[in-house]
Amino acid sequence: MMAEMEAARLHETGGPQSLRIDRTPIPEPGEGEVLVRLRAAALNHRDVFITQGLYPNIRMPVTLGSDGAGEVVAVNGDSPGWRAGEEVVIDPMLGWGDDPRVWDSGSSLLGMPRDGTFAQYVTIPAENVYRKPEQLSMEEAAAIPLAGLTAYRATFTRGALQRGETVLITGVGGGVQTFVLLFAKHAGARAIVTSGSDEKLERAKALGADLAVNYKTTPDWAKIVRAAGPIDLVVDSSGGETLRKALDVVRPGGRIAIYGGTNGDATIKLFPLFWKHVTILGTSMGSPQDFPAMLELFRKGLRPVVDRVFPLQDAAAAMQHLANADQFGKVVLRVG
Ligand SMILES: NC(=O)c1ccc[n+]([C@@H]2O[C@H](COP(=O)([O-])OP(=O)(O)OC[C@H]3O[C@@H](n4cnc5c(N)ncnc54)[C@H](OP(=O)(O)O)[C@@H]3O)[C@@H](O)[C@H]2O)c1
Repeated sequence: MMAEMEAARLHETGGPQSLRIDRTPIPEPGEGEVLVRLRAAALNHRDVFITQGLYPNIRMPVTLGSDGAGEVVAVNGDSPGWRAGEEVVIDPMLGWGDDPRVWDSGSSLLGMPRDGTFAQYVTIPAENVYRKPEQLSMEEAAAIPLAGLTAYRATFTRGALQRGETVLITGVGGGVQTFVLLFAKHAGARAIVTSGSDEKLERAKALGADLAVNYKTTPDWAKIVRAAGPIDLVVDSSGGETLRKALDVVRPGGRIAIYGGTNGDATIKLFPLFWKHVTILGTSMGSPQDFPAMLELFRKGLRPVVDRVFPLQDAAAAMQHLANADQFGKVVLRVG
């Protein structure tokens, strides 16, 4: 094994172009940890926010990246039961804790503060690795963890989406929202989607979206959505004006699951909230129960949507692609 590896690291904030490819020592697994040789990693909007200095408690230098898939190289301690060469996918949620309802205040995400997956190797607690679904490529497997986990919890654990219900997915081009669409259709729900791009709406329709509306060219999109029948659940991460409209379109007794606020905070009208008995559900990442349940859907045949694959050396360009919202689905790094 070589003593050094390549990693895309952040030394100072200043946007995606601040990422540097460094040579850095291969990390040693601590007690109860495994060393994974990464074959692919994937980007999340969190990584962009960190490069832009828009994330709390940024610590540098750091190797970014929460998502990864690869092979086990070494195990420290005998409890984990992993053997060298086994193909795995990583759960980036570190230290969730014992309460499935909410994460522990000391929990964190892989890829800041702990060094992440935009590298040839990563160390990770053994309980955070899962067998890779066999039929998926390394790039597909790496595309799943953070976004798939967040989408699963928002859609099912918190959103309680049922067969035959209708879900509104705002900004379907986003990494997480594409998974919400996959999961909703798999569960037999009706999916209404919005996007700022007609091309992305076409791709969403090909994945089974039942109604697709462009929020940029149709500023009054809420009217069209309302006319299409009752919305049982809204899943949103854009916040701002979108959340205000979500409250208008959701049916009496409906639910709104929120996992992000890309466009900033929202001032909502209280009258429709209490008059319609709407439930607003905050959700983030997912528990150690959510992750294997989510992965099971992929073992049964679902495939994630991979937008583009870049080599690790082009991590900054990959991140700029995400920052521009040019993607539909996940942006992946191939690690050589
Ligand atoms: N709490 C958590 O655990 C958690 C986990 C994952 C992500 N997040 C947060 O969730 C957000 C999305 O993350 P991501 O990684 O999926 O990001 P992403 O892949 O970069 O997607 C962002 C998407 O937001 C959509 N969008 C932008 N403006 C919009 C608007 N006005 N109305 C509707 N949609 C709009 C765009 O969709 P279109 O291109 O289709 O228009 C864009 O593709 C980020 O704020 C991220 O920090 C939170």
